[in-house]
Amino acid sequence: MSDTSLPTPTASYEADPAQVNRVLLLYSGGLDTSVMLKWIQDRYDAEVVALTVNLGQPGEDYEVIRGKAMALGALECHIVDARKEFASQYVALAIKSNALYGGGYPLFTALGRPLIAKLAVEYARRSGCDTIAHGCTGKGNDQVRIETTIATLAPELKVIAPVRSWRMGREEEIAYAREHGIPVKGGTEIAPYSIDDNLWGRSSEGRWIEDLDHAPDDDVFELVTLPERAPDEPEVLSISFERGIPVALNGQHMQLVELLEAAAEVTARHGVGIVDHIEDRIVGLKVRDIYEVPAATVILLAHQELEKLVSTIHQNHFKPALDRQWAYLVYAGLWWEPLRTDLDAYMDEVNQRVTGEIGVKLYKGHARVVTRSSPNAIYDASLASFAQSGGLFSQEASPGFIELFSLQSRMAWRLRND
Ligand code: ARG
Repeated sequence: MSDTSLPTPTASYEADPAQVNRVLLLYSGGLDTSVMLKWIQDRYDAEVVALTVNLGQPGEDYEVIRGKAMALGALECHIVDARKEFASQYVALAIKSNALYGGGYPLFTALGRPLIAKLAVEYARRSGCDTIAHGCTGKGNDQVRIETTIATLAPELKVIAPVRSWRMGREEEIAYAREHGIPVKGGTEIAPYSIDDNLWGRSSEGRWIEDLDHAPDDDVFELVTLPERAPDEPEVLSISFERGIPVALNGQHMQLVELLEAAAEVTARHGVGIVDHIEDRIVGLKVRDIYEVPAATVILLAHQELEKLVSTIHQNHFKPALDRQWAYLVYAGLWWEPLRTDLDAYMDEVNQRVTGEIGVKLYKGHARVVTRSSPNAIYDASLASFAQSGGLFSQEASPGFIELFSLQSRMAWRLRND
């Protein structure tokens, strides 16, 4: 341990070490939070209640996590399955807002953090904790999202973030883990990628990803098949929406959690959903992330297409600016900001008409819309027809329209060129 002192609080919501008696720890079962579980008991002479939230991260064994927490001395360990709430109260809103930050990040982590922190508040209160501990570093967005949520919802609770302040390097953490009988997974020579995932996507950071000129090593991809290894036959996935929410795949109705999982599986198999992204973090840094977001890629593509079909030219010009603002607020951890709910009211209004079906062809890393249908489409095949004339659309009226529509532009051009 390079530094044995506990940090002095800077912000009002940070805990004074003397006041820390029982801590609700957001526990993943990984190395950082396992070391924290022990370290908090030692350093603060406090009790620890562990909370693990299931947001649909694949391949977790929650009984193993519970066993580990209890073996490390947790007073209680709560495992909460929040997949349904996550899908219907967070991801669904993101779909209605076509939420993509920086042109490529569908916000899966950013959407999950306010829910995880809200549950931490609930369980901290229920278990008589005075403090909440999380495993975020001091360089990322997640600390902003979690602490903003806690400070907003529970001004009486305090926060500690040991990883931000303990100044243990990886080697020291592993040494601490070994010394305290905390199991360390696999070989420790190569640091693992830093992973975060849930049912809306998966991110990898660290190692060579930090070298911007290093093309992705194959071993980073765990969800999406490499496009070059994807099937030689394309597949069309048809997605049905009701009022902006996906409700069926290939005509088969499902609950949103199952639908997102099924959409991810088909899409990932075809190599669709890999994003290699440079991102402007809220805390100033620019970083590179590798994302695997199969479900988000195909569902946002289809939703956007359907929304465009049922909305007017004016709505279609206006909404993307609001979509971008929504994504920015959520990225920045301002989930509880009233502007977000104001925007949701608009998103809901537009999405009342977003009902119909979109077919997307998946093939070796590409997704392309191939069919569209909606009872609300502002589209009339006979009006748009190349072969037919007449009906509601009078082509003879077009020259008059062109004359008036272009009037100001023509006058301005003349003034500049005569
Ligand atoms: N860059 C993304 C974000 O800021 C993903 C962060 C992933 N978090 C993590 N702890 N590895 O939301």
